[in-house]
Amino acid sequence: MTIGVCAEYRWNQIERRVVLVPDSVRQLTERGFRVVIEAGSGMLASYSDEQYRAVGATILPDAESVVAAAEIVCALTFPHGIANRLNAGQVLITLVQRWKNADAVADLLQRGVRVLALENIPRTSRAQTMDVLSSMATVAGYRAVMIAAERLPRFFPMLVSAAGTIPPAECVVIGAGVAGLQAIATARRLGAQVSAYDVRPAAQEQIASLGARPIGIDIGARDTETASGYARQLAQEQLRRQQEGLMPYVTRADVLITTAAIPGSRAPVLVTSTMLKEMKTGSVVVDLAAESGGNTDVTEPGQDVILPNGVTVLAPLLLPAQLPQHASLMFSRNLAALLQLFVAVDGIRFHTDDDILAALMLS
Ligand code: NAI
Repeated sequence: MTIGVCAEYRWNQIERRVVLVPDSVRQLTERGFRVVIEAGSGMLASYSDEQYRAVGATILPDAESVVAAAEIVCALTFPHGIANRLNAGQVLITLVQRWKNADAVADLLQRGVRVLALENIPRTSRAQTMDVLSSMATVAGYRAVMIAAERLPRFFPMLVSAAGTIPPAECVVIGAGVAGLQAIATARRLGAQVSAYDVRPAAQEQIASLGARPIGIDIGARDTETASGYARQLAQEQLRRQQEGLMPYVTRADVLITTAAIPGSRAPVLVTSTMLKEMKTGSVVVDLAAESGGNTDVTEPGQDVILPNGVTVLAPLLLPAQLPQHASLMFSRNLAALLQLFVAVDGIRFHTDDDILAALMLS
């Protein structure tokens, strides 16, 4: 059984991660798998070809050779660079983002390639070790605060100095899922005063447990959460009440981090340009929902927008790629756990009654 890894940065300019790190490759080769890696795959994430060779991987000169040799091709994001080279019987495991790559996915399925979509991982205890969404959201939440700290023209922590006392920065986090909770924890570690809001009532307790102040807003709805734990899309009136409730917090914030998302839909606009106009000069907004349209109505995915009042709205894309060493390590550990579930040295076993595999496998 051969598992293949390509250098994704060769076809995706902002990618720096690698899908399997040497430590995971060692586990696979020790179990008898062959792992083939395109030369230079881990270079931008600080994993050298030498490290891969030392754990038993075979380094191949290019992506084409990897795809020709591998029964299973693993990729972080949809591999546009090699998708058309995959053939019937081969397996592709990746974050598919079907809404964005519908034609390419349909083509693969029609040609008999088996496609496993990592974003469909169930949010259950059993699937936790394979949950790349949580891993990458953790990285994104951390990076969002680092970016804000870099761009903010003031300190995060309170400082008592000979030049007097400087109060801590006020940080507001909207959306307290995995990324939001990590942003709260990171901003707290840097010494900011943090308040946070999420539409799911269960998030209040998690926000408080991290030492942040939960923001309560009555939007006149109770069923804000689906059975699988995700937020529901809100009606226009409920959104309006959220915007109104958030207004005083947003206008006081030095840093605003937004992460609100609804799987499969456009992200809700929770911060309007009217609210942004009232923010303090120099304050920084980092919109982590940029890839699904953004939580503000001025968000330009991938761009920095500087408003006339001196407020900066940042909408970085593929944030986990900015912390490539640890993002790769986490992704790789999740993937190795998933491979354990259905790949044996003598073949692939797709147990259709397994809820994780059933959720991942596209048809
Ligand atoms: P996500 O990335 O889909 O959304 C981020 C956050 O935005 C969520 O907390 C959501 O409630 C919030 N949001 C959506 N619309 C909003 C609005 N209008 N106003 C304010 N906030 C809004 O969420 P993520 O991080 O993927 O987590 C989704 C759920 O899955 C959470 O309940 C989380 O605790 C759960 N989870 C469970 C796991 C497990 O049991 N293995 C692992 C990871 C997450």
